[in-house]
Amino acid sequence: MISFTKSVAVLAACAFAASSFLLSGAASAEEKKITVGFVQVGAESAWRTANSKSVTDEAAKRGIDLKFAEGQQKQENQIKAVRAFIAQHVDVIVLAPVVEPGFEPVLTEAKHAKIPVILSDRRAKLSNDSLYVTFIGSDFVEEGRLAAKFLVDKTGGKAKIAELQGTPGSAPANDRMKGFKEVIADKPGMEIIMSQTGEFTRAKGKEVMEAFLKSPKGKEITALFAHNDDMAIGAIQAIEAAGLKPGKDIIIVSIDGVKSAFEAMAEGKLNCTVECNPLIGPQLFDAVEAIVAGKTLEKRVAVKEGVFTEDQAKAELPNRKY
Ligand code: AHR
Repeated sequence: MISFTKSVAVLAACAFAASSFLLSGAASAEEKKITVGFVQVGAESAWRTANSKSVTDEAAKRGIDLKFAEGQQKQENQIKAVRAFIAQHVDVIVLAPVVEPGFEPVLTEAKHAKIPVILSDRRAKLSNDSLYVTFIGSDFVEEGRLAAKFLVDKTGGKAKIAELQGTPGSAPANDRMKGFKEVIADKPGMEIIMSQTGEFTRAKGKEVMEAFLKSPKGKEITALFAHNDDMAIGAIQAIEAAGLKPGKDIIIVSIDGVKSAFEAMAEGKLNCTVECNPLIGPQLFDAVEAIVAGKTLEKRVAVKEGVFTEDQAKAELPNRKY
């Protein structure tokens, strides 16, 4: 791991009294099995699969009754699932919001039902902080910055960049774009010449990269910034099909740090991945248990992550857990 390791950031100033959400007359955590309704984004990427596994494994380990709902990347499915969990009177709802806006009404319903909500992985845009207890997830803006810093170093500050964005309106797509642009803002040689969503999937990443390469400016592309590894891997296939060498003719940086990204780096086809750690099950259920026990939680908990380059890939591969 090179020197960009991010620190755990907690905004203690926003501490929240979790006890205000306790269900009246509820039995103590020792006496009662905790029931959690978990609303996942979908199954769009290897990252997501690892995240779901981390959550389900940890719940099983702790004897927590986990009700798992998967939104298939659609907000309406997630809203329905939250409503179902409210109706079932679960102890805590954990929501990974597919997009930022639009969750305020349903989270207000949860608050009225006195069911505490944890935001997991992705932030939601809310006018009112009292609609959730804590947000546990990565610093996506910083991930975008780290990806841009790598690309600036690797290309000597001169690149015509194609960007594969994540799901439109999602916190990781918004923030990664923001962090990336912030770093290249004062580097006139770094130019994003095309940008489109690949919806965080491998298939769409491939399809959009094919279109990029066939477009009038396709031959100018010297670098690719993909908002996740799955899209980068799809794009690598498109680049090879076009008779180019990924990682050489087109320098590629992406985000997540999944095993297949390390394999692609070991083959010299991907140049860098910025880690986004999906293994947050233990932190999530620490928070769930703290809420049920009436403890006060920090409003924001970030995850520790690193940056890995192609020269580290072979040595790091056996250590990868997702
Ligand atoms: O919210 C985290 C992002 O969602 C990951 O980077 C991506 O792979 C996933 O689909």
